[in-house]
Amino acid sequence: MKILVINGPNLNLLGSRNKEQYGSETLKDLENRVLRISKELEIDVSFRQSNSEGDIVTFIGSAKNEYDGIIINPAAYTHSSIAIRDAIEAVEIPTIEVHISNIYSREEFRHKSMISAVCLGQIAGLGLDGYELAIRALNKKLKSNK
Ligand code: DQA
Repeated sequence: MKILVINGPNLNLLGSRNKEQYGSETLKDLENRVLRISKELEIDVSFRQSNSEGDIVTFIGSAKNEYDGIIINPAAYTHSSIAIRDAIEAVEIPTIEVHISNIYSREEFRHKSMISAVCLGQIAGLGLDGYELAIRALNKKLKSNK
């Protein structure tokens, strides 16, 4: 089983950016957490991060026939990107949306996600634990579909 983890703009700055919302762990720490679980579950996991919407659309499109599941935090593009939404819909790969912060307790413009409707589910507000929960949930879902 292969899972792709995609992180969007400014998540390369985790650990130094707005620690109150995003904590002090880095993107590398996040990847190590996911890797630890993927080993336990015997899943093959890959990571992508980009600050560009087009790159993220390309990552999703290239996942077709390559990955069984996607975990995505589109960061600020969550609230604006129809292109990312359409890419997720087009590839028909089960996808879980993750947000480190609770987007519903923050500014109003963060309350709307363009991608939720095309995702299996959304995890928000649980910090980096959200990625760990997402990989476990995706594993369970994909195994039950086989
Ligand atoms: C975020 C929430 C977004 O509103 C914000 O633009 C981000 C990160 C989160 O993980 O909490 O960059 O997706």
